[in-house]
Amino acid sequence: MSTAEELDAIGVDRLRAAGSLKWSVFPDAIGAFVAEMDFPLAPAVADAVKGAVDRGLTGYLPSAVRERMSEAAARWQRDRYGWDVTADQIRPVPDVLTALRATIDFFTAPGSKIVLPTPAYMPFLTIPAMHDREIVEVPMLVKDGRHVYDLDGIDRALADGGGLLILCNPYNPLGRVFERAELEAVAEVVERHGARVFSDEIHAPLVFAPHRHVPYASISPATAAHTITAASASKAWNLPGLKAALVILTNDADVQTWARPEVAWAEHGTANLGVVATTAAFDEGREWLAGTLDYLDGNRRLLGELLAEHIPAMGYRAPEGTYIAWLDARDLGIDGSPADFFREHAGVAMTDGIACGAAGEGFLRFILATPRPIIEQAVRQMAAALREHAAG
Ligand SMILES: Cc1ncc(COP(=O)(O)O)c(C=O)c1O
Repeated sequence: MSTAEELDAIGVDRLRAAGSLKWSVFPDAIGAFVAEMDFPLAPAVADAVKGAVDRGLTGYLPSAVRERMSEAAARWQRDRYGWDVTADQIRPVPDVLTALRATIDFFTAPGSKIVLPTPAYMPFLTIPAMHDREIVEVPMLVKDGRHVYDLDGIDRALADGGGLLILCNPYNPLGRVFERAELEAVAEVVERHGARVFSDEIHAPLVFAPHRHVPYASISPATAAHTITAASASKAWNLPGLKAALVILTNDADVQTWARPEVAWAEHGTANLGVVATTAAFDEGREWLAGTLDYLDGNRRLLGELLAEHIPAMGYRAPEGTYIAWLDARDLGIDGSPADFFREHAGVAMTDGIACGAAGEGFLRFILATPRPIIEQAVRQMAAALREHAAG
């Protein structure tokens, strides 16, 4: 594990030279728009991938390799969240979005609507249309400064033809980590309508104390019965390009449905290197993750301090989980897209909240899994752009 000083020392030039998506799309701007980490891979993960390459494990996915990932994922769920799922309930997929697409196609009633709390991770707003499904956006409410589900809104949407509720916990982009009671309240509404839930838990390893991740399907026999869970090591260990994620099936009917060839086809494309990396991450990457979470914890606090000092009108509440900051730019006096403004005038590339649904208008998504000096540079450049804008 790198020390904080070593992570701090990773500069923009080095990241730009490495050429990740985040650092190559906008060559003149600080990349803060895509959920990638700017830190070196966990050594255990890097060794596992190199070992697989050295062994020539670059063909199709052998079942023994696949099973080891399911076993490691089951151990992870048990050790980390106290959730007893067995390896045979855990299937491989190349990525979480493939799991969502299979869920829509094979686990919901044809033509039923997709109910989506917003602001939402951007592809959740575009994928349903690819499956000829209508989305019902249900904006989150703010209670005591914290985002909470609009249970009445979800109830109405499910009553009005909704068949699947997409939950994202920890929540990209809002950073919430939902408490058991909040999930129980959602479950009650879902049960009332006999609906299904797709629970995207890709950010589950990235939770800051005292918050704790509660797997939605783990809370009751009812949630186990109505949920398809998606899990992955790809956010916490920065592996999305290696193509491996997991679907957790928590009832016999879903296990049987998944076994149908046209459904299990969703597994196709899961890559050996991703499977090997994910196995190593869950089994041997825990200490690295603890160190990374410490660093990220510092980042989310630092961002708050910097904004309070340099851009006090920017709204920010430190995320409880994820490395995504949701910034409220509505009081900054910017006309039009705040993301365009900061990319053009501050050289900081963020996602415009509007891409997360109508509820995101006036907000920004800033990825804080980057060295602290880069966060500081980004805030300073944004503050300078605002000063110039105010001066006219
Ligand atoms: C909530 C959420 N779900 C899914 C994804 C995409 O995951 P995958 O690459 O496994 O499809 C992301 C990526 O940032 C995400 O934040």
